[in-house]
Amino acid sequence: METAACKSVGVKIVSTGRYLPEKILTNEELSKIVETSDEWITTRTGIKERRIAAKGALSSDLGAEAAKIALTRAGLSGADIDMLICATITPDKIFPSTACYIQQKIGAAEVPAFDVSAACSGFIYALGVASGFIRSGAAKRVLIVGAEVLSKFTDWHDRSTCVLFGDGAGAMVLEAAEGGTDSLLSLFIGADGQYAELLHIPAGGASAPATEETVKNRLHFMKMSGKEVFKVAVTKMAEAFEKALAKTNLKPSDINLLIPHQANMRIIDAVSRRLGFPMEKTYVNVHKYGNISAATTIVALDEALEEGRLNKGDTAALVAFGGGFTWGAAIIRV
Ligand code: UT7
Repeated sequence: METAACKSVGVKIVSTGRYLPEKILTNEELSKIVETSDEWITTRTGIKERRIAAKGALSSDLGAEAAKIALTRAGLSGADIDMLICATITPDKIFPSTACYIQQKIGAAEVPAFDVSAACSGFIYALGVASGFIRSGAAKRVLIVGAEVLSKFTDWHDRSTCVLFGDGAGAMVLEAAEGGTDSLLSLFIGADGQYAELLHIPAGGASAPATEETVKNRLHFMKMSGKEVFKVAVTKMAEAFEKALAKTNLKPSDINLLIPHQANMRIIDAVSRRLGFPMEKTYVNVHKYGNISAATTIVALDEALEEGRLNKGDTAALVAFGGGFTWGAAIIRV
């Protein structure tokens, strides 16, 4: 699916926010839990540490904190939004949606609230959905949240996955803007379900309801075929960027900052090299947080803005890839 800036109603990014749990889990600490080492994790992934949510903290808690920061920065409260979308693969429950819990926690009115499930591409999918509602005139101010507590779905006995993921949340307030303002220059999203089993949680859904067996076999945790995911991730992230950019009048050199999904430093390197971006124009925080799935691109965007890596009027490209497989890219002007 492709969308490009439409003349009548623009989509304005009003503010962003992020929330990362305080607790840090370092590679050294991890190497006491499973047979791994700081050396292996650093060289194979670039990750040095990740954040871990407190015992009872849910995606809706992290998401609500990020949302409150974004709302405060916009001079708004929960009561001022007219739609709430949460991208997550670690929902508080299968239903109701995590967005409904966030709605309650930020004091939003009785506005539509729902989740988007597109794994690590979830925030870009949510941006596409929100912008569709805004451009059609059905919503004026939408809060989108990417929130994950992946640590609660991680098999802490499986060294091939437990070193990769972390917890965190980010949020963005979007508003209808008349008169030519448009922060979302283009967006491209895609998916290919033939790869569904390569990155998933096998049990807990209708295909494998919880039984003693599924629990014993640790099937309620994330499973990934890392090598296969790696290859498709590089190709599809580069392709998503090119397709989104083609919908604008811009050249790659017009993009001030590439913000790729942060799953593995080797994937980030390969994508930025393929697209001709020097590392100075590529945002990286994988060393601090690991992969926080749907929260990744919005947390990175919020940090890049705070650090002055992006300034008013600059153009950035958010690019993501995840389970499904899903992928997407958004060209934004901040
Ligand atoms: O958000 C989108 C989803 N995620 C991704 O995009 C991640 C994509 N995949 C990756 O990032 C990489 O494939 C991984 C980091 C997951 C794995 O890296 P790899 O270079 O593909 O390693 P591998 O899975 O082929 O494993 C190589 C070796 C194996 O040992 P043998 O069989 O060669 O003896 C593994 O058992 O490394 C071993 N290994 C580890 N060793 C120490 C796997 N995990 C670990 C570990 N510590 N944590």
